[in-house]
Amino acid sequence: MLESTRIKTEIPGPKSRELMARRHNAVSSGLGIATPMFAKEAKGALLTDVDGNTFIDFGGGIGVLNVGHAHPRVVEAVKEQAERFLHTCFYVTEYEPYIELAERLNALVPGDTEKRSFFVNSGAEAVENAVKIARSYTRRPSVIAFENAFHGRTLLAMTLTSKTDPYKKGFAPFAPEVYRVPAPYPYRCPANRDCSGGCQGDCFAALEKAFVSYVHPQSVAAIIVEPVSGEGGFIPFPDFYLRKLRELCDEHGIVMIVDEVQTGFGRTGKMFAIEHSGVEPDLLITAKSLGGGMPIGGVTGKAEIMDAPHVGGLGTTFGGNPLACAAALAVLDAFEQEDLLARANVVGERIMAAMHDIQEKHPDFVGDVRGRGPMAAMELVEDAASRTPDKKRTGRVVEAALQEGLLLLTAGQYSNVIRTLAPLSITDDELEEGLTILARAFDQVA
Ligand SMILES: Cc1ncc(COP(=O)(O)O)c(C=O)c1O
Repeated sequence: MLESTRIKTEIPGPKSRELMARRHNAVSSGLGIATPMFAKEAKGALLTDVDGNTFIDFGGGIGVLNVGHAHPRVVEAVKEQAERFLHTCFYVTEYEPYIELAERLNALVPGDTEKRSFFVNSGAEAVENAVKIARSYTRRPSVIAFENAFHGRTLLAMTLTSKTDPYKKGFAPFAPEVYRVPAPYPYRCPANRDCSGGCQGDCFAALEKAFVSYVHPQSVAAIIVEPVSGEGGFIPFPDFYLRKLRELCDEHGIVMIVDEVQTGFGRTGKMFAIEHSGVEPDLLITAKSLGGGMPIGGVTGKAEIMDAPHVGGLGTTFGGNPLACAAALAVLDAFEQEDLLARANVVGERIMAAMHDIQEKHPDFVGDVRGRGPMAAMELVEDAASRTPDKKRTGRVVEAALQEGLLLLTAGQYSNVIRTLAPLSITDDELEEGLTILARAFDQVA
């Protein structure tokens, strides 16, 4: 038995099974179930369930815990703020942590242009508001989104999302004026091109063609892009593509919205993934790891664009709640004082190397290893030649790992991608244990 994976019962254990029965009777069955166990406590990269089993967490609550579970700075900041006050609604009675968070994000988001921020409660809500702001600024209706995109589950965010099952099936009609274009995907490029080598080609041409066939550029308020598609399967957009996208937006007066809900806060080895390309976005969306476990989302962008909506046009009762702002400030402190970006790169290199070792051992079904920094993933296929997505075997690897004490999440249009969203604060020992379990899970399933 590995040291930090103290698995004491079968998974799920008896207490989790009991709670699951209650869940089935009390909670809508529309909510998915990624793992069958119930949490009791969690610290750093370790999560203990109600039966006393401890797991190494490579999921981080879906990319929320880049600083780790219950980071001491975050917990302390929330406690301190809770002692003072819990809520006023920022635009009823203002408070300083909101301003400080806006100031710090304005300074962190790349580019020299003066910035403004505002806060909401989730990633989807931030997406909705970024589009509102872009429409208000440009006085145009349309939005272009990419294949493999995930932007959330509210009406507009769901419309922007590019996966029908489970996100869109049965939920039509969708929001109007959303247009979809192909996204770079080297492993499945129809022209068989490797875009990391600087293909200047077909995907971008498809975007330009969309201006001819589907929507005139003068109708387009915004193009929204994840620098590395998250739920879509951890597929990085090549830097040259993002730079060309910037030029295209400038040429046509289109707002470039960069969705960093999953890629932000060190997940790709830089504070924001867009930094790899050197591009200054017009609007940048944050959520997930910004709050270190507290619900908060944000839009940060060029002042001229952010200030376009009329007074009172933006808002939400809880957005930028004092507890969430205090937590987010503690997250930014942790990045500054604990050198988490350097750690992210070390963790990323180690994960990538381990994944390549697994691929070398199982070239028949590990079709692709890719990602950026610790945002790393493996795409599983039935065989290397056909590249047919293998969702079934992906599920079996995840299940085998869970039984040994490693929590993994999948991604991808065909749910055949295993991704890592481990806390960047994970210790070397925990990381090695997690990667050992991962490799063993592949051996077992093979
Ligand atoms: C890139 C991206 N955008 C938006 C969202 C939606 O965020 P939330 O679930 O907080 O609404 C997600 C969630 O996974 C995401 O990964």
